Amino acid sequence: VLPKDFRKRSVRERKALIDDLLGNPSKEEGSTDYLLDLADVMVESAIGTMPVPVGVAGGFRINGREYAVPLAVEEPSVVAAATYAGRVIKSGGGFEAWSTDPVMTVQIAVADPPPGAREALTAGRRRIAESMAPALEKMTARGGGFRDLRVIELPESGLVVLELDIDTRDAMGANIVNTAGEAARGTVEELSGGTVLMAILTNASPSRRSGARFRVPVAGLGRGGRDGATMARRVVAANQFAGENFNRAVTHNKGIMNGIASLVLATGNDTRAVEAAAHAWAARSGSYGSLTTYWLEEREEGAETTEAPGGPPGLRLVGELELPMALGTVGGAASIHPTARKALDILSLGLDRRITAGELGQVAVAVGLAQNLAALLALVGEGIQGGHMRLHARRLAFQAGARGGDIEAVAREMAVLGTYNLETAGSILLSLHS
Ligand code: MEV
Repeated sequence: VLPKDFRKRSVRERKALIDDLLGNPSKEEGSTDYLLDLADVMVESAIGTMPVPVGVAGGFRINGREYAVPLAVEEPSVVAAATYAGRVIKSGGGFEAWSTDPVMTVQIAVADPPPGAREALTAGRRRIAESMAPALEKMTARGGGFRDLRVIELPESGLVVLELDIDTRDAMGANIVNTAGEAARGTVEELSGGTVLMAILTNASPSRRSGARFRVPVAGLGRGGRDGATMARRVVAANQFAGENFNRAVTHNKGIMNGIASLVLATGNDTRAVEAAAHAWAARSGSYGSLTTYWLEEREEGAETTEAPGGPPGLRLVGELELPMALGTVGGAASIHPTARKALDILSLGLDRRITAGELGQVAVAVGLAQNLAALLALVGEGIQGGHMRLHARRLAFQAGARGGDIEAVAREMAVLGTYNLETAGSILLSLHS
């Protein structure tokens, strides 16, 4: 989708190129007045907005399609790492990715349920569906709507909880399912004979998941004097470390969320909902562990193709990630925020329609997995600080007053000296102009 040298162009050239590709540069995006008015309708007592850089990681190949992936994030290494790992993964044919149906669940908790409440609610399925029908009318017309219900009893509190599954199509769906849940309250009280304590969606979203898997020949993974097979084995060992140890698992998963949360933010989706669901999913066995799985496999000589997936015969590293992904591509901030709209347009490049919520989930998981691979390769290779400090140097140069081409010149000189601080950046900048 993007030219090969995209990341080497200047920021203004990159922006112009994207605006050209999209065909209709948004005037609102650059208007502080518009953004201030928008902030005022989005939150109470607004005083401004918080600009976060948006970068584009190109070259993500997912189910045979190329995606340019917009990421909104303040951490310097995230876009660079995604771009790097996206390219490595492309050498094995890219990602295979999948999404389940976009089903959200609303919970209606009933207090003081008389005996038989559970059975009455299960048997009342038709009346419960009818009570939600007006709230779900438009969604049902779009192919979504009520799907299923369960009733559970909580032994300690004595609550009976009705869970209603609702397919929300391309909407994230929080408003829709909460409205439907509240519409059902009266019917739930009549059927159960108890009192509704509350009705609210669950952000765990266990039925709405996206997953991605890659297979790469280990040959391309060698670095820092270690061959590819050794690096691949070290990646698998790093994943085992996270699988077995809580403290490491949190950081491992944080690295995955570096990619996912950045895409979620760029597209105007709810970062807290996705983060909460991800960490809960990582603990679904009862103990918190790694979200990813890695293994090595041998690709047989004469396997059906030497192209995707997995590249030529030989040893391959396989990585996989699946987690809840409650994202929307219609409604919410996506419909009013110019940057979110632009991010969705970038993701839809090459499509004759907007990207679906399921596809967006696949891209999010692929970016999370790529982010994790990049982090693990650095951690079990040369360590991450070298790369991080080289990127940090550009900020220091900026902070010291460098602009334009001076930023790179100062950063390069700091890397040569191996000293990264504001003072050094300042004296390099002075020497450039003396
Ligand atoms: C830094 O933001 C993320 C990492 O710490 C992730 C990891 O350790 O796997 C590098």
